[in-house]
Amino acid sequence: MARIAQAVTAQVAYPFATLAAKKRAMEVRGHTVIDLSIGDASLPAPDAAVTALRERSLLAAHHHYSSYNGILPLRRAIADWIDRRFGVAIDPEREVTALMGSKEGLFRFPQAVLDPGDAALHPDPGYPVYPLAIRDAGGRPVAMDLSEKNGFLPDLGAIPEKTRRDVRMIIVNFPSNPTGATAGPAFYGELYRMAVRYDWIVVSDNAYCEIYDGAPPRAALEFDPKHERTVEFFSFSKTYSMTGWRLGWACGNADLVQALVKVKGLQDSAPFEPVQFAGIAALSLSDADLAPTRRFYADNRALMKKALDAAGIPYFDAQAGFYLWARVPAGLSAAGLTDRLLEERRVLVTPGTAFGPNGEGWFRIAATRHPDEMTEAARRISQGLPA
Ligand SMILES: Cc1ncc(COP(=O)(O)O)c(C=O)c1O
Repeated sequence: MARIAQAVTAQVAYPFATLAAKKRAMEVRGHTVIDLSIGDASLPAPDAAVTALRERSLLAAHHHYSSYNGILPLRRAIADWIDRRFGVAIDPEREVTALMGSKEGLFRFPQAVLDPGDAALHPDPGYPVYPLAIRDAGGRPVAMDLSEKNGFLPDLGAIPEKTRRDVRMIIVNFPSNPTGATAGPAFYGELYRMAVRYDWIVVSDNAYCEIYDGAPPRAALEFDPKHERTVEFFSFSKTYSMTGWRLGWACGNADLVQALVKVKGLQDSAPFEPVQFAGIAALSLSDADLAPTRRFYADNRALMKKALDAAGIPYFDAQAGFYLWARVPAGLSAAGLTDRLLEERRVLVTPGTAFGPNGEGWFRIAATRHPDEMTEAARRISQGLPA
């Protein structure tokens, strides 16, 4: 038998791969499942991006390895966008790198900054890649327990003094996957003060910053005026419905960004250049261009909130991001509810435990499908959850 590394054998499968397998098993049995489990857009990518991809892909000059940190025109377009959106000036030469999706960068960044055994704080519930990446880099993941009573913001003041001193890096993610919580200046200001005091690296995952109903979400970089210790990750996936294109970026402190480029250079090359040109086209879209996308997610969230209200299911009242974070009825586990919703209602959601132990008692609905599918899923859920 082929021999697999013990660490890989022991590794749990990525939760979304497991859910996809369950869905496939239902489909093989002839059932049609409405999949609200993964945060994948159902909207098309912008025409401007598709056109740029088509035109650039016809030019043989773009068919070769790109520079490891991405082409300068993309890095310049990113710097312009960051300035327009957050009022932060970044140097496109040293403070930005293109990524093959932000997941790639988030997974590799701990390899660039952690020494064996270094502690790194991550949110629980949170995007499952964070603790896996910290561990893979030889670091020690330390969960920050998020709770509804704190609006799903980390309670930085509650972190014990010893932990604060041990910590090398902290990861935050607002608007949050899975809760949809957002953070304001008070939180980011406190984060920066603590990071300075205890010499932390701040990793801010801002993948959902353009999906919001009210005030635009903020960036951690706004609160680190000299870019001493912050790296922020952005994605084309959610804003521009370009999940399959694999394009994102990291920006912030030049030493940290260049360390990431060094690690990446051993493991991959930059994204296909026509995709990078498509990214430039996407970044030139205006707020007015993005308004229908924002409305799509706001309407889907509103529709699903109504269904949850009708079913008497409490949820966190998210105003940003793709997701609704809802309570599992008493007597069921998150996994149990997910299985029953799939078996009995043919709706696939994500059990809260996919995002860490604090996700027990919760499930996540991705408000990403066509409104007709969302309406049908809402109807099935509003019949009351299986007891
Ligand atoms: C919080 C968060 N960060 C990062 C990503 C990765 O996005 P991508 O690799 O498509 O840029 C995701 C994807 O779901 C996410 O939810």
